[in-house]
Amino acid sequence: MRKLSTLSDIPHKVSSTSVIGVGHKHESAIRQVSGQARYVDDIPEAANIHHAAVGLSPVAAGTIISIELEDVLSSDGVIDIITVTDVPGHIDIAPVFDGDPILADKKILYHGQPIFAVLAKTIEQARKAVLKAKIDIAPGVPCLNIEQAKQEMNFVRPPHEMQQGNFEKSYAACPIQLKGNLTIGGQEHMYLEGQVSMAVPEEEDRMLVFTSSQHPSEVQKLVAEVLDIKLHKVVVDMRRMGGGFGGKETQAAQWACLSAILASRNKCAVKLRLPRMQDMMATGKRHPFENSYQVATDENGRIQATQIEINGNCGHSADLSDAIVDRAMFHADNGYYLGSSKIVGHRCRTNQVSHTAFRGFGGPQGMLVAEAMIDAIARKLGKDPLTVRKLNLYDEHDPLRCTTPYDMFIEHNVLPELIAELENSSQYWQRRKDISAFNANHSIIKKGLALTPVKFGISFTAKHLNQAGALLHIYTDGSIQINHGGTEMGQGLHTKIGQIVAHEFGLPLEHIEVTSTRTDKVPNTSPTAASSGTDLNGKAAQNACLIIKERLCEFYAGLVKGDADNVYFEEQNVYLEEHKITFTDLIQQAYIGRVSLSASGFYKTPKIHYNRETGKGRPFFYFAYGASCSEVTVDTLTGEYKVDRVDILHDAGRSLNPAIDVGQIEGGFIQGMGWLTTEDLKWDDSGRLISNNPATYKIPAIGDTPEIFNVDLYGRANEENSIYHSKAVGEPPLMLANSVWCAIKDAISSLSNYHLDPQLNTPATPEKVLDAIELIQQAGGQSN
Ligand code: MTE
Ligand code: HPA
Ligand code: MOS
Repeated sequence: MRKLSTLSDIPHKVSSTSVIGVGHKHESAIRQVSGQARYVDDIPEAANIHHAAVGLSPVAAGTIISIELEDVLSSDGVIDIITVTDVPGHIDIAPVFDGDPILADKKILYHGQPIFAVLAKTIEQARKAVLKAKIDIAPGVPCLNIEQAKQEMNFVRPPHEMQQGNFEKSYAACPIQLKGNLTIGGQEHMYLEGQVSMAVPEEEDRMLVFTSSQHPSEVQKLVAEVLDIKLHKVVVDMRRMGGGFGGKETQAAQWACLSAILASRNKCAVKLRLPRMQDMMATGKRHPFENSYQVATDENGRIQATQIEINGNCGHSADLSDAIVDRAMFHADNGYYLGSSKIVGHRCRTNQVSHTAFRGFGGPQGMLVAEAMIDAIARKLGKDPLTVRKLNLYDEHDPLRCTTPYDMFIEHNVLPELIAELENSSQYWQRRKDISAFNANHSIIKKGLALTPVKFGISFTAKHLNQAGALLHIYTDGSIQINHGGTEMGQGLHTKIGQIVAHEFGLPLEHIEVTSTRTDKVPNTSPTAASSGTDLNGKAAQNACLIIKERLCEFYAGLVKGDADNVYFEEQNVYLEEHKITFTDLIQQAYIGRVSLSASGFYKTPKIHYNRETGKGRPFFYFAYGASCSEVTVDTLTGEYKVDRVDILHDAGRSLNPAIDVGQIEGGFIQGMGWLTTEDLKWDDSGRLISNNPATYKIPAIGDTPEIFNVDLYGRANEENSIYHSKAVGEPPLMLANSVWCAIKDAISSLSNYHLDPQLNTPATPEKVLDAIELIQQAGGQSN
């Protein structure tokens, strides 16, 4: 037998009938659009199921004096109530650092914090009963903004810093010196399926939990801990989510834990589904940020020195904020060499819900500073921003311009070529001319154009999370089940995993069933996050395939007296020299021959490391790149605008499934556009979220889709050994929307004949656009 370490050397022919690289539709597409796809709330309910609801804090800070629940208990249909004192085990369900009590523990930390949970016969009865609680809270003084938290050094985690060279010295020597700041809004996840869990008690203290979670293993651990039982007594099952977007990475656990406690106490199945308004109030969002920079360049606008301060509003606890602010810092360069640089990140504590993962995971909020700096430089020098962008890209051929502020060497940088291609295909310079002419002839309606790049680091920045497992079974009819550690949230992960397994065995996709993610099949899994679902689980699934293929090769070689090295799987057959057998026949014979047809696979990402003490390392296995060109029209009297045309060229490596990847790019772009333009989180002065429903919080609708929307894949293989040299595609496209923000600024800047850089904080709602216009006009810009 050859050693497993040489498995990847087993030859496999890439046949023209392979399912890899082909635009297969999402494995659940038909079921999803026809209402047959089963989500947690669609699972047939146990006969004795009851329903839970939670009571939330009406204030943002304070101390609980008394909780009177008699009226709740006597309300129709009510079976049980729990507060924090009823939790049998741990009360802290924080993911990494302490600070997230499952229910308020004396102190109130934010408006909307769950204080108690009620179990009743129906969901309506539970929700009605909640309203009858009388809770006496001695109000405290909430901290509601970044500025105050920073002044008070009120941080959920200590600050972190990375630097390269001597910023002060380089800055002082430069002819051009610029300063700026940028307020960046957060974002509500607005997944179609809200938070929901169903806990089903099993024999004795065992618990089965169905939950809409990106992180079943963490739910398993936390359910075990709150119940004070061992992890092996808990099974978590997740077939699919109706969207997660990061909002179910850590913050699905609370609802699963509450369901499990109620299920365990009452020996009945319990379902907890948050109504949308509660979901919006009680779960964290994308972090709002307030960032500032100092940047210095030579006469041409080439950056020599940069200092950036990143301040994330983390809400009341750490949750994932340490890693999120780190990722903002890692992306404050975007694709640009920053010269001598110093980047500092603060994790500000406020009395808001604990802000959490959201597509891009801090990257977008860091990257926007880079684009703000470039725009400022361009306006100062009277150059086209695209010229300044290109001038400042990392250059892997120049040893002085190819390392990031955290000392990672940039290689295989496709941005210069990718941008050149998009510049051509979008006819950037011709349209620039046309737009200048248009603006010269129109005093009120102004057009803007921008082409911006994306460089996004792929890997969890917490190294240990970069591992995955898979479990593969071949049944005697030749059909295959694959289970892996990733969860399906609409992104097409299961489709891609199915393709990988089908490809390895030379089978059509229909022969492969990807089963629901379960903690009893693949243990100790990472969250499906950081865009790494396919990279990690795809490799683990491939590893499982290779292990079984090795056994089958040996077996078949023994049967026909050939060389196992020459066996290959193609078009539902297995070949060895002049011999051929159908895959199903081989499986049947292997079964009779007592060959194991089940295997588990494993993968861990190579090459990555980061030393947080020194702020240096290679935190990312590789980067995914892209660029977008957006054109907008702005009405300078009202601040209203429209995105007219968008051209995107995105690097998904050698795409596993172009149809799904293009879908991810379109969806990511539109979601990013919503974040930067219309999605406006509003808290009132008492810390209450007032944009707490879809009527007061505007996400992009179909009518906001750009009329011209061209999306292309760059198509160059990943140089790193990722699964079939593809690249992760889940998060990076969100940041393609930066070009919309820059294009709006470009239109406003035209009012100053492109000499002034507008201050446009995000979301760039029409009100903010109008403010920016007025500022430019006051500063001496003319309206033509
Ligand atoms: N696409 C859909 N349809 N729904 C989602 O919830 N989440 C995004 C992205 N694309 C999401 C999505 C986020 S935040 C991440 S990290 C990745 O998908 C996770 O999946 P992947 O690693 O398999 O790409
Ligand atoms: N991205 C997304 N989720 C995460 C990460 C990350 O880098 N680290 C921990 N959880
Ligand atoms: Mo995505 S924010 O990493 O779940």
